[in-house]
Amino acid sequence: MATKSTISEVSNHVGQEVTIGSWVNNKRSSGKIQFLQLRDGTGYIQAVVVKSEVSEEAWEAAKSLTQESSLYITGLVREEARSQSGFELTVTGIEIIQVAVDYPITPKEHGVDYLMDHRHLWIRSPRQRAVLIIRAQIIRAVQKFFDDRGFRLVDPPILTPSSCEGTTELFHTKYFDEDAFLTQSGQLYMEAAAMALGKVYSFGPTFRAEKSKTRRHLIEFWMIEPEMAFTDLEESLVVQEQFVSYVIQYVVANCRKELETLERDIPKLEAIQAPFPRITYDEAIVFLNENGFEIPWGEDFGAPHETAIAEKYEKPVFITHYPTKIKAFYMKPDPNRPEVVLCADMIAPEGYGEIIGGSQRIDDPELMEERFKEHELSTDAYQWYMDLRKYGTVPHAGFGLGLERTVAWICGLDHVRETIPFPRLLNRLYP
Ligand code: 4AD
Ligand code: MG
Repeated sequence: MATKSTISEVSNHVGQEVTIGSWVNNKRSSGKIQFLQLRDGTGYIQAVVVKSEVSEEAWEAAKSLTQESSLYITGLVREEARSQSGFELTVTGIEIIQVAVDYPITPKEHGVDYLMDHRHLWIRSPRQRAVLIIRAQIIRAVQKFFDDRGFRLVDPPILTPSSCEGTTELFHTKYFDEDAFLTQSGQLYMEAAAMALGKVYSFGPTFRAEKSKTRRHLIEFWMIEPEMAFTDLEESLVVQEQFVSYVIQYVVANCRKELETLERDIPKLEAIQAPFPRITYDEAIVFLNENGFEIPWGEDFGAPHETAIAEKYEKPVFITHYPTKIKAFYMKPDPNRPEVVLCADMIAPEGYGEIIGGSQRIDDPELMEERFKEHELSTDAYQWYMDLRKYGTVPHAGFGLGLERTVAWICGLDHVRETIPFPRLLNRLYP
């Protein structure tokens, strides 16, 4: 019996016979030799079947293989400098598991809707595989960054009785006899956790019933939400720029092959190092109005505004101190200028838009009460949140990084639909 191996581990078996569970990616033949392009999830390898060196049975088996057929391939591992993986298999045996008939995704071009309908198969393709690997490495980098810096991972609930980011984008459901919502953000609970553990972060799915059909919006997306006690906006910005630089450099160091598969401009990523530039909302308004936009003070920015601002920089840029009126109820007003809040959005370069939203939080109980009234939020549902201001309130700040927009930026993808295994989009719940 040959040793069982994976494609990623064949380098440990040069000169030996191995068996690899695999799928057929592609095949070509030149009369007396068949070349099988195989994949097993860990990598790609070419297996060479020479008619004169295998049994009649194995030769016929190879001939019957189609795209995405599954098999155990047995062969001798050889170093092969000309191949992409550096190795090749000289086949000695083939055990077919299943011959796949009419695999729906062929090497020809397919439309996006067709591919999205076949997302469960599309993820087998080299580009999609590279994206999913990078996504997994980003998650690893995120956890490493915070774990190594004294932050504790805390999981906020997904079913909640109240909203965090405004009431218009909530998914409603029943919680037995009560009304409940799918969480838009774990932030409010993370504030409670910060008062218990100091520095915390969460990583989980969030939901927005937003009727937006843009290349940056998902209905279900994953967010990383750190929250820090005894921390002001300025200190939070330093954490954010170090965090994002760390994640980018981790991916560059660990995913070079995948970035190359995606034809990503790697030097552009290598240039992402803290500190990041900062401009105030006021400065951004002046810049936009001097550069072809007509936007009055007090209006929120859309994607074109963000892109115009980001184009001035090679690195992400912080836009700080937005008008109080257009931001969430929990943001702390600037003590010197209460018409703006101590907040910042981080806008990624190359047109990828806002990847982080964050702020210092209101810590004064009376002001918090006022805000609840202004925003018509029922104080009953938020009583526990008020308690955080009543029992030992402290200055605190936090932020939320959208995972999928970060994956889109790092991978250089033009749409977030390819950044998550099974995207939930406006009008798409299948597969
Ligand atoms: O700016 P947002 O709405 O901020 C919050 O939810 C805060 N409570 C976070 C906090 O301070 N703890 O969302 C944060 C980030 C955005 O910058 C964006 O990257 C991402 O989440 N995001 C989305 N990503 C994909 N699809 C959507 N519909 C998104 N909405 C927000
Ligand atoms: Mg935001």
